[in-house]
Amino acid sequence: MSKTKIGILGLGTVGSGVFKTLKNFSDIEVVKISVKNINKPRNIDGLDKSLLTANSEEIINNSEIDVIVELMGGVNPAYELIKKALENGKHIVTANKELLAKHGEELFKIAEEHNRVILYEAAIAGGIPLIMPIKTILAGNKINKIHAILNGTTNYILTKMDNDGVSYEEVLKEAQELGYAETDPTGDVEGFDAAYKITTLATIAFNKRVKIENVYREGITKIRKEDMAKANELGYKIKLIATATINDKNEADVRVHPMLISKNANLAHINYVTNAIEITGNPVGTVVLSGAGAGEFPTASSVVGDILAINSELNKNDYILPMMRCRHEENAIPVNINDTFNKYYISITAPNAIGIIAKIGTICANKNISLSSILQKEVFKNKTADITVITEKCQEKLIKEVVNELNDCTVNSLIRVAE
Ligand code: HSE
Repeated sequence: MSKTKIGILGLGTVGSGVFKTLKNFSDIEVVKISVKNINKPRNIDGLDKSLLTANSEEIINNSEIDVIVELMGGVNPAYELIKKALENGKHIVTANKELLAKHGEELFKIAEEHNRVILYEAAIAGGIPLIMPIKTILAGNKINKIHAILNGTTNYILTKMDNDGVSYEEVLKEAQELGYAETDPTGDVEGFDAAYKITTLATIAFNKRVKIENVYREGITKIRKEDMAKANELGYKIKLIATATINDKNEADVRVHPMLISKNANLAHINYVTNAIEITGNPVGTVVLSGAGAGEFPTASSVVGDILAINSELNKNDYILPMMRCRHEENAIPVNINDTFNKYYISITAPNAIGIIAKIGTICANKNISLSSILQKEVFKNKTADITVITEKCQEKLIKEVVNELNDCTVNSLIRVAE
């Protein structure tokens, strides 16, 4: 039996999991693995040092290799390497969400030109089967909405803030000590990671290309423990939500930002590092997929699934895995965040003056914004009062005007509320 030959770029956590998992498959042979430092001690059973190289070019130019598994992350040098590997006739399996979000369009085009595939099940929500189900089992649907928790680090931080009543800074420090958050946490806490993931996810779910520069993004660093407490009191949880909707005119509203979500909603129950994706389509209705969004073996599960999908078709047909290919011709039409309609939670610290609540009501009423709830408990000794407002659905542009006009109050937080 001839074996399918694999070259792996990167032997970090995911690479190690893939190497270990592939040992269970006698028809797959790992021919070479590129690493930054060949001499770094690695405790991986069956890993012969002769498999390692510091030269990734050697792997992509190796004519024996059928499939390149890219697990380096980041755009450089992964972008150039994958491009060359496709030109050299290799199929690609990657977990690189940033690369796909920024250069997916070009790379998929090159893949088509060379009759090769790029599979990326592990790039979005790690171990959760998502891309393959959307492209195959759900192919008969018009998917028009995705609501998801796609970043484990931020979900861990928000869950801890909620459970323990502590601040963002305190939880971040602890999460860094435990290895749940990186030393530079920007990519996760500012929403970049989730934005990369929802860009590609929305593109394949809607069958229209979504561009990363049109994805609105806000992170979790401004969420206060007081917002968590208040949200709870009002029947909500606060989560970093990646959302994408598309209408009949192909206008796609794709974003990542914190949201208050009802305690009864599916995503309210997704805690710590778990990811979940709620997909709504016709005729399927709403389905929810949840599980580990990162980690050595969950992510390896998705990478190995992709390798096996390619392996099962290799040498059988001229054109393999047609349903798994990306051949989008059309771009989605972007929607500006200022033109979107949302419900809002507003936390206000107001001077204890007569008529303040009436003033807030009037400013909103003048813009035709209806209030769903308004809460003021007591006046503090320093003669201020905390007022929490939840609005009905209104235009983002108008709520920003409201915030500007509340100039004799301090607006502590403005957070969108899921319907
Ligand atoms: N940094 C990601 C997260 C995992 O925290 O979910 C890899 O995509």
